[in-house]
Amino acid sequence: MAAERTDKWQGGILGWIDDRFPLSSMWNEHLAKYYAPKNFNFWYYFGSLALMVLVIQIVSGIFLTMNYKPDAERAFASVEYIMRDVDWGWLIRYIHSTGASAFFIVVYLHMFRGLLYGSYQKPRELIWLFGIGIFLCLMGEAFFGYLLPWGQMSFWGAQVIVNLFAAIPIIGEDLSVWIRGDYVIADATLNRFFAFHVVAVPLVLIGLIAAHILALHEVGSNNPDGVEIKKNKDANGIPKDGIPFHPYYTVKDIVGVVVFLIFFSIVVFFIPDGGGFFLESPNFEPADPLKTPPHIAPVWYFTPFYAILRAVPSFAGTQVWGVIAMGVAVVVLFFLPWLDRSPVKSIRYRGPIYKAALALFVVDFLVLGYLGTQPVSAGKTFMAQIGTIYYMAFFFLMPIYTKMDACKPVPERVTSK
Ligand code: HEM
Repeated sequence: MAAERTDKWQGGILGWIDDRFPLSSMWNEHLAKYYAPKNFNFWYYFGSLALMVLVIQIVSGIFLTMNYKPDAERAFASVEYIMRDVDWGWLIRYIHSTGASAFFIVVYLHMFRGLLYGSYQKPRELIWLFGIGIFLCLMGEAFFGYLLPWGQMSFWGAQVIVNLFAAIPIIGEDLSVWIRGDYVIADATLNRFFAFHVVAVPLVLIGLIAAHILALHEVGSNNPDGVEIKKNKDANGIPKDGIPFHPYYTVKDIVGVVVFLIFFSIVVFFIPDGGGFFLESPNFEPADPLKTPPHIAPVWYFTPFYAILRAVPSFAGTQVWGVIAMGVAVVVLFFLPWLDRSPVKSIRYRGPIYKAALALFVVDFLVLGYLGTQPVSAGKTFMAQIGTIYYMAFFFLMPIYTKMDACKPVPERVTSK
């Protein structure tokens, strides 16, 4: 450990710390001597951006919690109090509500990068599995958080989703009462959702993110060529195509952070409701259990999955098949490393079938997302059914079409495209 100390600091405060805590060796292992491929591109910004949004959400969340009241009688008014009377309260709330949508934008782009470059393939399966665990936690975090302002959409959105559990045969009804702690969404529900949103889920999320990054640093990053840089090392054992993460990528990531913050600030200061997508207008009315809003839709980041739920018709009066389809749409993501049988990681060297399938998947996901925001109609339900079939086919037929595809030879070293 002592050998890894920098000369300048030897014997100084850092030396004192290093004798008691592996500070320098951690710094070296994860930053100054962590060799990352030199050909990272635009798509590699989103991991560090996701980390930054996490920090933004935790810090703004702490300040919101100082003034928020998790009580069905007072929650809505406490949010109004934050918006009107607490110093800078409006800013803190808009940062947190915009941060929620920003989190999903960043994470969806981060996941898409995985699909582009086959980053989930061997030996990075665990990074991906931790990632999907993170994605599930994020969905839970967003769902629990959305009830807290106790607006009309908070209440009715939660009502619709918790009622889905009632569709499960035999135990469904009891299960939904157990989740709510009451026969309808009520004060008991608000209290437990608050506990999950503020303590339980963030703890799990932080643990999973730590595991995600440790797993990444164990095997090393993939890159846009899908070439394993550890296979080509120099005499000192340093990958020839690797550069130290610090300072090269810390500086690159700071550029990403600045650009991101510009867009983030534009939304926070000029369009804080995100055009009705980030904060929905019915949520500016207090929850009323006696008044169902004419159109209940979840926030945009859930709508592709919501469209899949609604696409499946009820059989024998039960919605359970829709619930199962929605569950499968999420759970199938865990199996991606084993569904993809391509010998090649990066889209650059894959054949036309995967390229077409992935392009169509992006369109499909966006169309499903749009349909999930819309009121039901026969035509839209039909489109959502086609979209659901394609979504499932993309994953379940993957073992077949990725094997058939005519891939190109992968270069020995990374390219500088
Ligand atoms: C809070 C959410 C997340 C955070 C903070 C996070 C953080 C990171 C960071 C810092 C990296 C390294 C930098 C980079 O490659 O961009 C990374 C890599 C990676 N992440 Fe995440 N991540 C999150 C969610 C996810 C999710 C939901 C998935 C997908 C299921 C995922 C899959 C991956 C993969 C496969 C890599 C390796 C990429 C490669 O080497 O090409 N991550 N993540």
